[in-house]
Amino acid sequence: MNDGFAYCKVILDQYGKPVDYIFADANEAYRRLTKLNGKPGIGRKITEVIPSLKNDPFDWIGTCGRVTLTGKNLTFERYCKTLGKWFAVNAYCPEKGYFAMIIKDITQRKKTEQALKQSEKQYKQLANSITNPFFALDSCLKFTYWNKASEKFTGISAENAIRKHFYEVFGKDKTTRKAVGIYLEVMRTHKSRTFIDTLRKVNGNTIFEIQVYPTGNGISVFAKDITERKRLQGTLEQYTKRLEELVKIRTEKLKGVERLAAIGETAGMIGHDIRNPLQSIIGELYLAEEELKALPESAEKKKITESILSIEEQTMYINKIVTDLQDYAKPLSPVVQETNLEEIIQSLISALDFPDNIKVSYLVEKPFPTLKTDPSFIQRILTNLTVNGIQAMQEKGGELTINAFPRAKTVIIAISDTGVGIPDAGKEKIFKPLFTTKSKGQGFGLAVVKKLVEALNGHISFETEVGKGTTFIIEMPLRD
Ligand SMILES: Nc1ncnc2c1ncn2[C@@H]1O[C@H](COP(=O)(O)OP(=O)(O)OP(=O)(O)O)[C@@H](O)[C@H]1O
Ligand SMILES: [Mg+2]
Repeated sequence: MNDGFAYCKVILDQYGKPVDYIFADANEAYRRLTKLNGKPGIGRKITEVIPSLKNDPFDWIGTCGRVTLTGKNLTFERYCKTLGKWFAVNAYCPEKGYFAMIIKDITQRKKTEQALKQSEKQYKQLANSITNPFFALDSCLKFTYWNKASEKFTGISAENAIRKHFYEVFGKDKTTRKAVGIYLEVMRTHKSRTFIDTLRKVNGNTIFEIQVYPTGNGISVFAKDITERKRLQGTLEQYTKRLEELVKIRTEKLKGVERLAAIGETAGMIGHDIRNPLQSIIGELYLAEEELKALPESAEKKKITESILSIEEQTMYINKIVTDLQDYAKPLSPVVQETNLEEIIQSLISALDFPDNIKVSYLVEKPFPTLKTDPSFIQRILTNLTVNGIQAMQEKGGELTINAFPRAKTVIIAISDTGVGIPDAGKEKIFKPLFTTKSKGQGFGLAVVKKLVEALNGHISFETEVGKGTTFIIEMPLRD
């Protein structure tokens, strides 16, 4: 026999308690296992053969002795400190006062078991300390492991998940079906897979990066919460987009600035080189006109007078362009004084040449306060807007209205025409210098108007409808 066998007679004390036993017989294996090799044993007491057994943490003598008292078989596994071994013991009572025992050395098995338990404990601790959900499924898709983070994320305890089918725990829908498809594929191919999915969480949804690994016949699933990462990614994308937009806007602005700088230089040059000769031309024209008046009437005189008037008209036009250019290019400094708006409007209407098919009217709400502003600015603003209005109605005629009314601390002036209106494409550009749709336009009028209005701390806007007309609205402080 490989297992140890001993046959013993129990020695009881005065109270009938087993205190020792005498070996009646023991096989080779028993002697080997209990390290009695070579020592005389038969007929001797166990306390003599192995004296330290009395001090072993386990009561070997009492336990085995009791078998004779109860007559019941006894099977147990115990560690014997004295011998440093684990034994599986089977003891029974073949005749009164005696017991027989079969012992098996299970030290190796116990060690393996303990190591296994230890490593299982460590692995469980490890899995539980993972802050991401981690679970395992067997080949039937039943949970075999469910860590603490899984409990936290799903609100489902390990108890309610283990041994249950995946669908039973997570329900059967599009998402879970897709997951199961991947799980089965991993089981079949033994190749790990990673996919992104949104899983139900106690409070709201969470985006997970799910890694599936083949383990044995089943799989392990490791879900990493990447909601924050995804959110940041989204924000980053938005920032990048916004940044790109900003760069675009800035570039446009810079281009605008370059353009304005070029215009400024040109304007300075024009102011210097054209203004002065222009003034002499105007002066000479005046003199020529006067001299012409003194001549006797004739067909020639009439012709020359017409030419001079035409030259004068064109010169005035050149003068307007030069003035606009300079106004646009140089910094403005309004000279504030008491200003009667109605007077300005009246003189403007009488000075301008309106075609017959255009009706002009104005309305100044009474009582109207005296403005404190720069009258020359107001005059140029209104002139430019009125001229634009007239030009917009050139083809089919219409009505031009100027309305002015005070409101709290501001004054509102509206100039309306029933002309062609401004199409969408032009809306953003009309205040930009050099934008014009007219064959004889410079595209400086509105750019100057805007500059003048802003110099008076005012604001200009417009409403327009193609084919119906346009209204420019100026709002500026009553007193600067
Ligand atoms: N009342 C309006 N109705 C329709 N379009 C308008 C009106 N006012 C301005 N516009 C449009 O805006 C453009 C720019 O006007 P702006 O006064 O700046 O320049 P312009 O009139 O073309 O030339 P300039 O005033 O320098 O002689 C015009 O060419 C026209 O297309
Ligand atoms: Mg104009």
